[in-house]
Amino acid sequence: MTKVSQKIHDLIDCDLVLDKNKLQNVMINFEREIKKGLKKASQAESEVKCFVTYVTKLPQGSETGKFLALDLGGTNFRVLLIHLKGEEDYEFESKIYAIPQSIMLGSGTELFDHIAFCLAEFVRENKVQDEVLPLGFTFSFPCQQNGLTKGLLIKWTKGFNCSDVVNKNVVELLEDAIRKRNDIKILICAILNDTTGTLMSCAWKYNNCKIGVIIGTGTNACYMEKSCKAEFFETNDKVREENVIINTEFGAFGEKGSLNEIITMYDKDVDENSINAGNQLFEKMISGMYMGELVRLVIVRLAEKKLLFNGKISEKLKTRYQFYTKYVSEIEADDENVFMMAREVLNELDIHDATDEDCRIVRYCCEVISRRAAQLVSSALAVLMLRIGDPNITIGVDGSVYRFHPKFHDLMTDTIKEIVPSNYNFKFVLSEDGSGRGAALVAAVASRDIKDKI
Ligand code: GLC
Repeated sequence: MTKVSQKIHDLIDCDLVLDKNKLQNVMINFEREIKKGLKKASQAESEVKCFVTYVTKLPQGSETGKFLALDLGGTNFRVLLIHLKGEEDYEFESKIYAIPQSIMLGSGTELFDHIAFCLAEFVRENKVQDEVLPLGFTFSFPCQQNGLTKGLLIKWTKGFNCSDVVNKNVVELLEDAIRKRNDIKILICAILNDTTGTLMSCAWKYNNCKIGVIIGTGTNACYMEKSCKAEFFETNDKVREENVIINTEFGAFGEKGSLNEIITMYDKDVDENSINAGNQLFEKMISGMYMGELVRLVIVRLAEKKLLFNGKISEKLKTRYQFYTKYVSEIEADDENVFMMAREVLNELDIHDATDEDCRIVRYCCEVISRRAAQLVSSALAVLMLRIGDPNITIGVDGSVYRFHPKFHDLMTDTIKEIVPSNYNFKFVLSEDGSGRGAALVAAVASRDIKDKI
């Protein structure tokens, strides 16, 4: 960690630096919430809902065929055409479409009409409009599922808030929008969360992959649970599958007070000024949508106390969300005692006369916030690892924070090593396009089942 004066330490550390003891408390609370989430009698009160995904089988690597995938819920909306060729080989075409803020905050009908429009355009551009392709819909929001093709949206998260979608079956809304157009034929085989896609796409190569985690715009994890522990898992199949993937939706952890001991004034500020105040408190301490804003709030406080920039605060620095999360990664990528990126970022924020000491402190603020994020997400992952109980485990991971922050991977590895027994061997593997290829794999497994039943 960058060295800064005692004064700065005193002001920042007591709130934002988590010791092992605090992390262990987080783990205890998290485990309790997971257990509550899995049970019918207590899910309603649980902060961590543990939705059943109905994905019970990991891919074998031999899946073949052409599939469509939709990916909604990260920074971009994407449509993909994936050709699985078996033997761990695949090809794909994809296109990114913008979802303007007016649609993210507009009506559900507009959102699904827009998705159907993009899908139709993509299918035509790729000349597959005459084929009935199976589609996997990666919809990365909390959904209560009662089968692979039914997902009721429980609430919106991240930057979305479209009207008339909560409590509706998202697959049906998409099917209606496609039917209305009457120009393409699509078989929606599965709706899945991005964490599930990540787990599946990693399990394709690593068959001991039992956790999928996203640390991007939002944060969340899914894991392989014994199906007898998942009380909501209902099946008509004669032989009950042994395992099922659970989408924890751990971003909501803390909504009923579990994190009160460690929540800071900065976290409260971010939450109170968000479009979903009171929701997704864990996510707001960790994910990319909020990380830069947390750093900005810490910096502004230090400047207000005249411990930074001689007390001067530029208009840009005063403006919410002007300190982008990518700045955190950029600043921390500089070598120790080199402040090139810090200075560049500060220039962008109209602070042109920062001293080396100012830059050092700004870097320290970034480190404190990103390290806390890595420690928190690691505590939750450690609980999942211990629950699974397999001492050799691969964790599939994706998301912009994990990909672009220079130290996130190491911070997570170090934290987990500190809190799980020493016989645990774990490895993070960056997922190769979980939301796309993972969706195709779920669709592949699902369409096989559908064909079997016809
Ligand atoms: C939010 C969503 C969750 C998703 C995560 C990562 O937490 O609620 O479903 O997995 O973001 O994208």
